[in-house]
Amino acid sequence: MSDDNLFSPFKLNNFTLKNRIGVAPMTRMSSPGDSIPRRDVLDFLVRRAENGAAIVYTEAIVTDYESAQGYPKQARLITQRQIEAWKPVVEAIRKEGAVSIMQMFHCGRMAWPEINPAARAIAPSAVSPKQKNPLTGEPYPVPDSMSTFDIEHVITGFVETARGAIAAGFDGIEIHGAHGYLINNFLSSYSNRRNDEYGGSVDNRYRFAHEVIQAVRRVVPTDRLLTFRVSNWGIADMEVSLYADKMEWQQIIKMLSAEPIDAISVSTYDYSAKAFGTDQNMAQITRQVTNLPIMICGKIYDRATAEDALRDADIILSAKSILLNPTWVDDIRRSRELPVHKSEDANVAYTDEPLA
Ligand SMILES: Cc1cc2nc3c(=O)[nH]c(=O)nc-3n(C[C@H](O)[C@H](O)[C@H](O)COP(=O)(O)O)c2cc1C
Repeated sequence: MSDDNLFSPFKLNNFTLKNRIGVAPMTRMSSPGDSIPRRDVLDFLVRRAENGAAIVYTEAIVTDYESAQGYPKQARLITQRQIEAWKPVVEAIRKEGAVSIMQMFHCGRMAWPEINPAARAIAPSAVSPKQKNPLTGEPYPVPDSMSTFDIEHVITGFVETARGAIAAGFDGIEIHGAHGYLINNFLSSYSNRRNDEYGGSVDNRYRFAHEVIQAVRRVVPTDRLLTFRVSNWGIADMEVSLYADKMEWQQIIKMLSAEPIDAISVSTYDYSAKAFGTDQNMAQITRQVTNLPIMICGKIYDRATAEDALRDADIILSAKSILLNPTWVDDIRRSRELPVHKSEDANVAYTDEPLA
């Protein structure tokens, strides 16, 4: 692939991206009270568009006021006030020629009952992560196994949040099916021990994701984007492979490819790492079984890694590098020497300190 590929346009549904670089979704925990992010956090997103990113993802927005929240001060997008707060942000991103995508999730067994108005954690099965919650130092609570009522109620939260994003003018919506949160809890046998139609076989474990996608697509017009994020790792018990093997991962990707979605976003810790004991990386394993556009993320920090990652994907996303460097896209364009950042470097994202 030529060096120009990174800065070549890419057609994603009705949108023509001006290049192949996007801002990955990043939680900022800056929304106390009204669940609206701090002014500087919203401005940060616009600045990334100004610097040339073709896609700007929001932080993961929680889908309800009941059990979805896993971290303090998270954002929501279901009240008129919240919608009004995002409108100018979306407009400013569009003015820069970038595409805005709202990512949404329910934290599932990673939820934190103390900060959820219903004081509940819910998940496919009553199994908590082995690891303690790093923010509280306490074990994660054993979640309630979700009833059919819970499942329908949670899907409504995804739909309402998508409607909020459409009302705010977002170009796209992403369903967060990665990182060990609720949808991922259903997909993975590590957290799904159900023996009803939502558990057991891969088809059954996939059912919840399917129902969420179908319900959300109904309120997302076909000229807007719907993307889905997947990963083989979760925030808690990070060393665990959430899918049994390459075949199981590919089964999920094939099922996703039959859905009315516009792209699959594959989240990794290192895009180049070989996966599932094969000599292929996650993007290659995904590409083998889908014709959907693929976004890839994980340790892409300079021009060489960006170009290399793009060999197996259509779009690259950056989190830490673009978080810590407001001119990252331009620096990539100029092939500047750039550092690799450690996870700890990104903790500044969660402080009150405005980022450049
Ligand atoms: C501060 C921070 C917040 C994050 N929040 C989210 C999030 O809300 N949703 C999500 O899907 N991933 C989230 N991630 C993961 C990133 O999107 C990305 O997948 C990961 O950091 C690897 O990319 P990188 O090596 O470019 O940082 C977050 C990462 C960081 C550093």
